[in-house]
Amino acid sequence: YTPNQSSLIDLYEKAAELFSHVLLNTKLGENALSYLKQRGLSEKEIKDFNIGFAAPEQDLLLSFFKEHKIDDKTMAESGLFIETSEHELRDRFFNRIIFPIKDSNGKIVAFSGRSLVKDPNHPKYLNSPETSIFNKGKVLYNFFQARSEIIQSKTVILYEGFMDVIAAHRANVKNGIATMGTSLTEDHINAINRVADRVIICFDGDEPGQRAIARAIELFRNDSNLQISVVFIPDNLDPDEFVKQRGVESFQSLMKQTGESSTSFLLKYDRMGLNLANENDQLEYLKKALARIGGLKDALEQDLYLNQLSDEFGIDKGDLKDQLRESVADRL
Ligand code: CTP
Ligand code: MN
Ligand code: MN
Ligand code: MN
Ligand code: MN
Repeated sequence: YTPNQSSLIDLYEKAAELFSHVLLNTKLGENALSYLKQRGLSEKEIKDFNIGFAAPEQDLLLSFFKEHKIDDKTMAESGLFIETSEHELRDRFFNRIIFPIKDSNGKIVAFSGRSLVKDPNHPKYLNSPETSIFNKGKVLYNFFQARSEIIQSKTVILYEGFMDVIAAHRANVKNGIATMGTSLTEDHINAINRVADRVIICFDGDEPGQRAIARAIELFRNDSNLQISVVFIPDNLDPDEFVKQRGVESFQSLMKQTGESSTSFLLKYDRMGLNLANENDQLEYLKKALARIGGLKDALEQDLYLNQLSDEFGIDKGDLKDQLRESVADRL
């Protein structure tokens, strides 16, 4: 870290302490604390994940830093303040639950704040802006804390969000990290590829989540040699909601079904929204499926899924193979 970056890290450490103090020990934090408890978090988890609260009073952080004689330049660069048109600093985060985001060395480099109220004019999560040490496309939430579990199991479980990581942790599944949204990047993939042999994608079960799983599979295939599987969360739930509604044991057994192969997920994804009782839809699906299977590098894997298609649709496997060769030839 440059001296400049180290000052930012010191500042974030102090900010996290203030946010945590406000949440756990003050009247200002009471609502936020009961919100988190309602969502199933214990005080231990709140402390383990360094969660805090930015109070509704504006500029608590600003006055705290002024008292501690933090220099204006570091404050301005921290991203924790916004500058008014009169060049005054104001707190960026207020009335939000605060999740500190750590880099791969365990240093806090950014924050994300979850709104306590549902309000279409404000985003559910507000993040620190990019700074000299924070780039959302490079950081994975909980990567530092999960590192030893990941190295032991050689496996990363990839979630979308903070609460998913924390809920899984509660279920004793501790090798989880999050992309903080669905935009997985090449840098994320490289970071995962360096420490694990296998990735289990466990994004939200809703439509955007499903689309993101399909996209993530393609990216992992192109940019890594990781073994890829998917644990699909049913009923449009996300992992956190699943744990809350069905309990930790159901989540554990879901995770134990080693996950489905990425191809099997993609084939399921291809048929969503199609009515396979309808012949046009059947044909459409068969074409998509053959394209998927044709893209597989492993002949054995190709064979496995051709067999499944042949069984399911009662089509001769030889015909499917011919068709596969043709469609591959078409693309060349
Ligand atoms: N996210 C974000 N900005 C937003 C919405 C989401 O950065 N406006 C990130 C957050 O890291 C969030 C993740 O994307 O955790 C997944 O988004 P989503 O599934 O919409 O939120 P949840 O994590 O399910 O949030 P919660 O459980 O608190 O409702
Ligand atoms: Mn490897
Ligand atoms: Mn989501
Ligand atoms: Mn979610
Ligand atoms: Mn959620």
